[in-house]
Amino acid sequence: MSGLRAMLDITDLGADALREVLDLSRRPIVELGRPLEGDGVALVFEKPSNRTRHSMEMAVVQLGGHPVYTRGEEVGLDSREPVEDVIRVLAGYHRIVAARVFDHGHLVRMRDADVTTVVNLLSDRSHPMQALADVLTMSREFGDLSGRTVAWVGDYNNVARSLSEASLLLGMEVRLACPDGYHASVEELERLSRLGSGSVTQSADPRVAVTGAHAVHTDTWVSMGQEDDAAVRRAAFAEYTVDGALMEAAATEAIFMHCMPAYRGLEVTAEVFDGPRSRVIEQAHDRMHAARGLLAYMAGAR
Ligand code: CP
Ligand code: NVA
Repeated sequence: MSGLRAMLDITDLGADALREVLDLSRRPIVELGRPLEGDGVALVFEKPSNRTRHSMEMAVVQLGGHPVYTRGEEVGLDSREPVEDVIRVLAGYHRIVAARVFDHGHLVRMRDADVTTVVNLLSDRSHPMQALADVLTMSREFGDLSGRTVAWVGDYNNVARSLSEASLLLGMEVRLACPDGYHASVEELERLSRLGSGSVTQSADPRVAVTGAHAVHTDTWVSMGQEDDAAVRRAAFAEYTVDGALMEAAATEAIFMHCMPAYRGLEVTAEVFDGPRSRVIEQAHDRMHAARGLLAYMAGAR
């Protein structure tokens, strides 16, 4: 193995490892060999998924391993049995345990059990597998990302945090545009600003963030588990729709990105989401290439 025992956040990688993972993600599958030959990879999902499940399952198969999917209800983290019992048992079957959880603390406890390699497939805190794909897509478009500008419009959520971390590690300028109550705290901005060689700023005004930006990202206003707050959230984000006029303020070569699932007419207009600047489908497909790169890295492929 690579020595990397867990990826709960992009910061578990650091800049050098992130670059190595991206290099592995770009390599033809045949060059990676079959570093997971004969190995199991557990995929535990407490929330729904389309992209993450399919991209992880295919990436495991491409590396010679065997993915085993289980729904959160079947595993019952801390309800059917304690998280520590679950991970100690799964460690006997699988080389890697990957999980999508409501509570990031459950991933921390899995990692701290120190019995196997743990990967975050989305938590309330972060979505590092998404961020790997995000920077892979942007690098295909722009080459070296250092000095390029990424704008985030909307909720400072799990996807925003991981995208900010990855972008900063690669030397990008990160500009956040988030409404009051849904923004990054001062402490969080300070933490981000200490990562890598990039820079981070925050504003309440989407135009400030987007003007001259090379990639404009957004995400749903209502993440999984926040459905009870949907009305309040939609009101708070009403001025944060990414539309054609906002994209006009971006750089001439700017692209639009979204982790999906997307809600046309809310966080993004159909015109932008389905328009020529949109890279959302390439970004979704990059989930598989990025997952393969990360798993290959963790399995020791170089
Ligand atoms: N972007 C993403 O993680 O999508 P899924 O929820 O479909 O996995
Ligand atoms: N922020 C969203 C991302 C979905 C992939 C959520 O957590 O539901």
